[in-house]
Amino acid sequence: MTAPDHPGAAGPRATSYWDYLRVDALLSLQGGVGGAPVSTHEELFIVVHQIYELWFKLAIRELRGIRDELLPEFVPDQRMSVAVHSLRRVGVIFEIAAQHWRVMETLSTRDFLDFREKLMRASGFQSGQFREVEAILGLDEAARIGYGGKGSQDRALMNADGSASGSKSRLDALRESGPPILVVLERWLHRTPILGSRPGDAGDAAVVAGFCADYVTAMERDIGDPDARAALQLEDPAARSALAARYRAEVARARDFLRAADLPEGTSDAERARRSRIRAAILFIESYRDLPLLAWPRELLDSLVALEQSMLIFRQRHARMVEREIGSRPGTGGSEGVAYLDSTALRYRVFKDLWAVRTILLRKGALPAPGDTSFYDYRFGG
Ligand code: HEM
Repeated sequence: MTAPDHPGAAGPRATSYWDYLRVDALLSLQGGVGGAPVSTHEELFIVVHQIYELWFKLAIRELRGIRDELLPEFVPDQRMSVAVHSLRRVGVIFEIAAQHWRVMETLSTRDFLDFREKLMRASGFQSGQFREVEAILGLDEAARIGYGGKGSQDRALMNADGSASGSKSRLDALRESGPPILVVLERWLHRTPILGSRPGDAGDAAVVAGFCADYVTAMERDIGDPDARAALQLEDPAARSALAARYRAEVARARDFLRAADLPEGTSDAERARRSRIRAAILFIESYRDLPLLAWPRELLDSLVALEQSMLIFRQRHARMVEREIGSRPGTGGSEGVAYLDSTALRYRVFKDLWAVRTILLRKGALPAPGDTSFYDYRFGG
């Protein structure tokens, strides 16, 4: 029974399940192209794709919301918790979606080949919504693997007559809707107070440089004598000295990373300083996450890493499903197939610095003392 104040009661009849969910319309969408009846195998193929597109739709909406939460100059804790909740939801969506490849794998190669010709150039490569997910996260367009030349991902979304498809128009609208999550995240990280110092404060650069230097010193101390450490791990003298060299190099790499010395030649000093402050902020939040004001920021960083991890697993899992279905033959979209998909899983990373910081993070007992941390306590009242 519908309660009297329920919106469904407002119309001439109570809302039904099938009207609310547009079940009839939904069930009429699996007919394929060309009018010929589709086999049970082909219907499975269509349904699984459609389910993925619906997951992508939800993910895009959540991700846009997260971007909007992080846009303001000041992001209060309660808004950050909303963003974290959404990020976790998107992470779960991708985790669950990666399990759907298993359903696709019940389609044997022979049964798939029965209708594969119908697809011609149709391919997941033309999933505009998947591109939207990548775009709102902030995947670097310049780093894309374009097997059909530069910009092939965007060209694949054009209709045969050269006009923009609905997918391309939606992707363009998303790009125009504002900056991606990576950009707003980095602006926010850049503003993060480090040891109580904010960008623009007198002496901020020195505070950040001092924090980074102390951290690397603590790292060096924690590793101890690289030769002695390697000797505890390996027997073979050559392997030992290679490992000891690696420990030494790790400290040098950490120093370069925190100074942003790894950025390409020609990078301006201002950009290097900005990147250095962003990286120091990640390190600071991750290291001192027990401080009350750093608790939600740390959750935010962690849920971004978890989301990116679930997307990487999604890509890898898709590639294994594809290998099982079609071996290493070319894809219907014209790529080399599974090798292309594997390289996307390996090379596409959005939150690179969040991952990179993990190599240098220290255990709690080895951290440099942060000094007066009262800045990071919760403050109540005026
Ligand atoms: C038998 C099933 C499938 C096979 C054999 C397959 C194969 C492929 C291949 C070979 C590619 C590379 C582009 C190309 O040359 O076509 C690709 C890309 C892609 N596929 Fe699939 N696929 C299948 C199912 C799916 C499903 C159900 C989805 C869900 C929407 C999907 C989403 C994608 C996406 C998003 C890409 C683009 C990846 C990128 O460029 O990073 N695929 N697929």
